[in-house]
Amino acid sequence: MKATQDYIHSHKDEMVDELIEFLKIPSVSADQKYKGDVRRAAEWVSKQLTEAGGQNVEIMETPGHPIVYGDRIIDASLPTVLVYGHYDVQPPDPMELWDSPPFEPVIKDGNIYARGACDDKGQMYMHVKAFQAMMSAGELPCNVKFVFEGEEEVGSDNLEDFLRDQQDRLRCDVVLVSDTSIIANDTPSITVGLRGLSYVEVEVTGPNRDLHSGTYGGAVANPINALCEMIASLKDDDGHITIPGFYDKVQTVSTADRKAMNDAPWDRDEYERDLDIATVAGEKGYTTLERASIRPTLDVNGMWGGYTGEGAKTVLPSKAYAKISMRLVPDQSSDEITEMFKKHFESIAPDGVRVEVKPHHGGEAAVTPTDTPEYQAAALAMEETFGRKPIPARGGGSIPIVALFESILGVKTVLMGFGLDSDNIHSPNEKYGIFNFHRGIETIPYFYHHYSKLKA
Ligand code: BES
Ligand code: MN
Ligand code: MN
Repeated sequence: MKATQDYIHSHKDEMVDELIEFLKIPSVSADQKYKGDVRRAAEWVSKQLTEAGGQNVEIMETPGHPIVYGDRIIDASLPTVLVYGHYDVQPPDPMELWDSPPFEPVIKDGNIYARGACDDKGQMYMHVKAFQAMMSAGELPCNVKFVFEGEEEVGSDNLEDFLRDQQDRLRCDVVLVSDTSIIANDTPSITVGLRGLSYVEVEVTGPNRDLHSGTYGGAVANPINALCEMIASLKDDDGHITIPGFYDKVQTVSTADRKAMNDAPWDRDEYERDLDIATVAGEKGYTTLERASIRPTLDVNGMWGGYTGEGAKTVLPSKAYAKISMRLVPDQSSDEITEMFKKHFESIAPDGVRVEVKPHHGGEAAVTPTDTPEYQAAALAMEETFGRKPIPARGGGSIPIVALFESILGVKTVLMGFGLDSDNIHSPNEKYGIFNFHRGIETIPYFYHHYSKLKA
């Protein structure tokens, strides 16, 4: 282990330079205009993985963006770790809110600013570098397989088939992912739960064409007004979601677990100040930490229709639209919730409008137990580098493929992320701490080390 850590220590700057090179490739998976750049990122990753010591490195085609695979099998009797990450990034919009261009990384106050710096290029690249360090030091204690995909930010649509088709090749004992956050740099944590997701788009149609809002206003249902009323009715005064059956399968969390969760360090004033809000808000009967992890949600992500240009145009629009996400918890089923939403939303349409609900991608929630060799290995690894035992914490985001690793490959996932909630992922000015990048690279070899010992 000393040789591995020495290698990391003497290559720290070089590793940052390489990450910067990676971040310059605008691998935006959602926008076809970046299709070539997404492929370029896959090629870059495959080159780095090969240089790091990866074998059987391959860019595997899918109906969408490619998957980069590589492995290093040293001894069939040793445990096998499958590392998963994504090299695609969210669109950078709104561009005007970035202090520096999203694909021209800059270092400021110990952070690298760029789209994908934390989610997930910076975090997935830590695994390539940690692997290279173990290889160079001759200290790789496990077999390792890498799966880096280019469609996580658009729902991992082709990864499920890939897992099914490649089951044999992907056989492993555990999946290791760095795509989540820690509580703070002096308070390490391991994510032990992710929420599921149901995402729908709704279209409300009133009259067959836009109308003069004076001539027709008051006499014809306005689809934007109707949509607003419908959305408003989806939650009651206590912040409970009103869709019949929505909570039926929600797993209740024990009082002890809720207490432990709320013992995590969290400062309400700081939270409110950081977001510039007068007060937090949410479902009655739950704390902010609970609202953002163990409870399901319903949020409008975007809404449009009618006239949104400069000045005033008097118009009664023909159409109104909204994109709505529901974050789910165990044991809600994404498909069932989508179906419930559709039925309910259609049933509450006021007279004079028609409603269409289109489902987008979804995914299931996941919880990972803490009494497993993999969790223990991650906890020991973090304790080695942070000098403190990490806190198990449930996260609010979603990584739908985690549930599929379990159902298809039959293995658990460890979510050992190193980002911070303040890293602005999916937002302008995304960043990743150089401290966090290096700390991740240092910690990963300890995971391999402890995991191979605990598994033996
Ligand atoms: N890395 C995030 C998920 C995440 C963020 C987990 C923060 C925990 C803490 C991932 O890249 C992501 O953004 N997932 C999407 C879901 C996907 C289906 C588009 C999400 O959560 O919105
Ligand atoms: Mn991610
Ligand atoms: Mn993301």
